[in-house]
Amino acid sequence: MEFYSEKEQITTIIEALKLKGLTLGLVPTMGALHDGHLQLVKRALRENDKVVVTIFVNPTQFNNEEDLEKYPRTLESDLELLETVSKDNIMVYAPLANDIYDDDIVSQSFDFDGLELEMEGKFRDGHFDGVGTIVKRFFDVVKPHNAYFGEKDFQQLQIIKKLVEKLDIPLNIVGCEIYREANGLAMSSRNTRLKPAYKEAAPFIYRTLTTAKTLFGTDSVEKVTEWVENQFATHDLLELEYFIIADEKTLKTAVQKSNKNSYRAFIAVYADDIRLIDNIALN
Ligand code: PAJ
Repeated sequence: MEFYSEKEQITTIIEALKLKGLTLGLVPTMGALHDGHLQLVKRALRENDKVVVTIFVNPTQFNNEEDLEKYPRTLESDLELLETVSKDNIMVYAPLANDIYDDDIVSQSFDFDGLELEMEGKFRDGHFDGVGTIVKRFFDVVKPHNAYFGEKDFQQLQIIKKLVEKLDIPLNIVGCEIYREANGLAMSSRNTRLKPAYKEAAPFIYRTLTTAKTLFGTDSVEKVTEWVENQFATHDLLELEYFIIADEKTLKTAVQKSNKNSYRAFIAVYADDIRLIDNIALN
């Protein structure tokens, strides 16, 4: 496996690969890799000759200084995990902020046609400007044919699709389904920070989502939302930040169901001071 921390080095290597006519996949991550990330990498390896995995805890997408500070950084074990997936076809690019940002560590401001104003956008000010800024930079450096993003961050996935469409960037965005623990908890780098009692409680989030999906078959948006809110109101350890049923395309909160639209339920929950998100397709 090849490791690069400098933009200039990896750019040279990528140019050589492109001249050979090889296809390139990109999997952007913030590290603390788990099986969910590895699913994206494996798929990228199946669909491309070479895969660039970026590992970078992007400061501009954190709206909370403490969250940024406490974000797990495990570069050595990340590299070991990637080695187990492929020894030959993965290139890791793990830059310092100054390298990828050219010394100007600030977000660009984007208009994602309102996608950025819903859910995570409401609760994490400036988050998607930070995500858009860094992902665009990685697209510029790597110029991949395909880039892989998880449905775990469904809003992010839709926003990246919008970014590519609006800026007319010639690449294919591939959405990958959510990878879960056996107990249903969506895999997340943040799970490693959960204290035992909270780790035990956290699968309640997905259990509630699956029941909400069943209820959505017969009940109104309002009724399902109220049911979920009540489930959390009486929960000792988990604190609901939001539960929203939204149109999958516009991400706008659904008011009335229509057979023509696809809906998804989105949830954000605090387990102690750790914020967990999840979502599920409803129809
Ligand atoms: P990170 O949280 O490290 O996630 C990297 C990619 O892995 C994202 O596309 C995310 O949706 C996907 N992923 C995480 N957990 C997953 C799971 N359980 N199942 C499927 N996919 C999963 O998302 C980011 O980093 C950053 O915002 C980034 C895009 C790298 C920009 O900084």
